[in-house]
Amino acid sequence: MSRSAHPAGPRHADVLPEGHYSAPPADLNTLDPKVWAQTVTRDPHGVVTVGGLPVTRLAEEYGTPAYVVDEADFRARARAWRTAFGQEADVFYAGKAFLSRAIVRWLHEEGLNLDVCSGGELATALSAGMPADRIAFHGNNKSTQEIHRAIDAGVGRIVLDSFQEIVRVAHIAQSLGKRQRVQIRITVGVEAHTHEFIATAHEDQKFGIPLAGGQAAEAVRRALQLDGLELIGIHSHIGSQIFDMSGFEVAAHRVVGLLKDIRDEHGVELPEIDLGGGLGIAYTSDDDPREPHEIAKALTEIVSRECESAKLRTPRISVEPGRAIVGPTAFTLYEVGTIKPLDGLRTYVSVDGGMSDNIRTALYDAEYSVALVSRTSDAEPLLARVVGKHCESGDIVVKDAFLPADLAPGDLIAVPATGAYCRSMASNYNHVLRPPVVAVHDGEARVIVRRETEEDLLRLDVG
Ligand code: LLP
Repeated sequence: MSRSAHPAGPRHADVLPEGHYSAPPADLNTLDPKVWAQTVTRDPHGVVTVGGLPVTRLAEEYGTPAYVVDEADFRARARAWRTAFGQEADVFYAGKAFLSRAIVRWLHEEGLNLDVCSGGELATALSAGMPADRIAFHGNNKSTQEIHRAIDAGVGRIVLDSFQEIVRVAHIAQSLGKRQRVQIRITVGVEAHTHEFIATAHEDQKFGIPLAGGQAAEAVRRALQLDGLELIGIHSHIGSQIFDMSGFEVAAHRVVGLLKDIRDEHGVELPEIDLGGGLGIAYTSDDDPREPHEIAKALTEIVSRECESAKLRTPRISVEPGRAIVGPTAFTLYEVGTIKPLDGLRTYVSVDGGMSDNIRTALYDAEYSVALVSRTSDAEPLLARVVGKHCESGDIVVKDAFLPADLAPGDLIAVPATGAYCRSMASNYNHVLRPPVVAVHDGEARVIVRRETEEDLLRLDVG
């Protein structure tokens, strides 16, 4: 549609309505490497390519919407975390961010371990050949079947999350004639600076056992008495999409404080601590995430310093990044369907997906970027809201973003940094089919999770 066919919505910074955006960027065609996967660029015709393949070809071959993941970027980020922490620490990729068998194989090949939090994630990991002893099993309400299966498979650790679970895991391990390696997840009372729903170390929430009031110490006392358990450490995860390292500093201080109390009371120095995941990524050009080597340096320094002052041997550290590895490696490719300019407000751009493939905007008020990727444009910036095709007005993918004013139905647009918590939280709302995940690498593309079909939907509907 040409610009004259849909009279202008607001276009200039001085007449923009309220919202979470800065002034329009100088050039809408430029792709900020902070938010796009590493191999993303534009070809001489202005078409965006990833792994050497134009998005127009990907759309033709695999349809839209589609999640497109840059395998080289995923591997590079996984390796960067592994290298940054070295041989003295373990990196467990948090599978909840996004898990598939190809991802498990890439992680295995790059030397990472895996954190799973359900029977489904465990099954995916095992079926793709992740050695069980490199798997950590999480969750605040693991079923007895899940616990049984995890112990039977020989998972490297189970992270205990409640007093009931301490007894349950010990009992199941004993019934299998095993002694299960476990950590206890504690809440250290840190308020992470992130959205309330993804902050997890303050006390008034469902995860972990509070350090406050001596509850964590009591959990340790009980775990140490049970023959079915080998208590190897303490776990803390303070939240997600965090940029400020001070929360980790306080958490490490308190976890080491507990290790010291355990040593003083039981004469035991626990050999491991896990500081969880939660490191933030850039969703827009305004975000400034830290590099893995900076994070590794900061965390290992904090723990060594704390241990030195508590006169403890420095335990082996582990971390569980999910978003920071997979988030930036993928984008969601959509086709523009309809365009509605609302005078004095903004222009609504509807795409062929929506809250079923990205619930984060509706759920957390998350911010995303967007770009026209099937061509370049010199048209002036248009304040747009990218919305989906669902029967709900909160079905927003990108709340406020600038797109060129000559945007037209049939154009391809892409939302970067959707590798984490988009496919893994996707739904079938309105019986919309979940998009495929297409991996690209060195000029080749392959589907690693196929598009859902109507047959898939109807197969479950057995009424
Ligand atoms: N370890 C534990 C114990 C966790 O609970 C989580 C995330 C992670 C590691 C990985 O956190 P990451 O590095 O990916 O931030 N759905 C929300 C995020 C929920 C995170 C839940 N736990 C979102 O879309 O932002």
